[in-house]
Amino acid sequence: MDRSSRNRLTEKLLPQFAGETLFNALARAVCRAGCLPRKELYEAWEVARRVRRRFRGRRVVDLACGHGLLAQALLLLDDSSPDAWAVDQRIPKSATTLEASLNEAWPRLRGRVHHVEADLRDVPLFRDDLIVSAHACGGLTDLILERAVEVGACVAVLPCCHDLQSSDLGGLEGWLDGPLAIDATRAARLRPRGYRVITQVIPGDITPKNRLLMGAPEAAQASLLP
Ligand SMILES: C[S@@+](CC[C@H](N)C(=O)[O-])C[C@H]1O[C@@H](n2cnc3c(N)ncnc32)[C@H](O)[C@@H]1O
Repeated sequence: MDRSSRNRLTEKLLPQFAGETLFNALARAVCRAGCLPRKELYEAWEVARRVRRRFRGRRVVDLACGHGLLAQALLLLDDSSPDAWAVDQRIPKSATTLEASLNEAWPRLRGRVHHVEADLRDVPLFRDDLIVSAHACGGLTDLILERAVEVGACVAVLPCCHDLQSSDLGGLEGWLDGPLAIDATRAARLRPRGYRVITQVIPGDITPKNRLLMGAPEAAQASLLP
């Protein structure tokens, strides 16, 4: 199966996800909702499982969330998070359809994912939050990192749509291609702000924009997984 496909997952594809794993169960719920591009399922899942290997619990705040599947997957993978806030300036109508399908499969999720239609600049954030974002375009990723750092929260971003004109390349463009220079500079900027940096990738066949940048404030180290 082409995991990078933008085709919607629908009930026709249920047989592809017949297995017993949590991922297969999630994929079936997404197929039943019938509204999400295939790529978004794989992106959200691959980000969520890597994030949960590092960060447990906490209120989840998924910024520039689109349908909010990343927020939902993070709650599924770790039930010790009380709830999740899924924030987007324009929540797609079908986010409710997706939520209903997930609630049907996992009643324990009901009422725990709050969709907030707002500019992410206006949402209150707290030190104990886990702030995540998949494919916040261009400078939006920098804004999210900045907002997380301001409150000293754990953060994980999967950047996309790098803007070589307006972004900080850190002077690295002589050695690295532009988007990589931007992401390396983002990582480097977290360290002097008191953050431990963790860099990973999700599989490149899902998206070429696959660099996952995670940051944990030194103060939070004790509660982090190795
Ligand atoms: C490329 S989409 C990513 C959606 C989702 N995270 C995903 O991985 O499928 C970027 C999202 O950012 C949202 N967005 C852009 N500017 C925003 C802002 N200032 N505040 C909140 N959301 C914003 C858009 O509405 C859009 O849904």
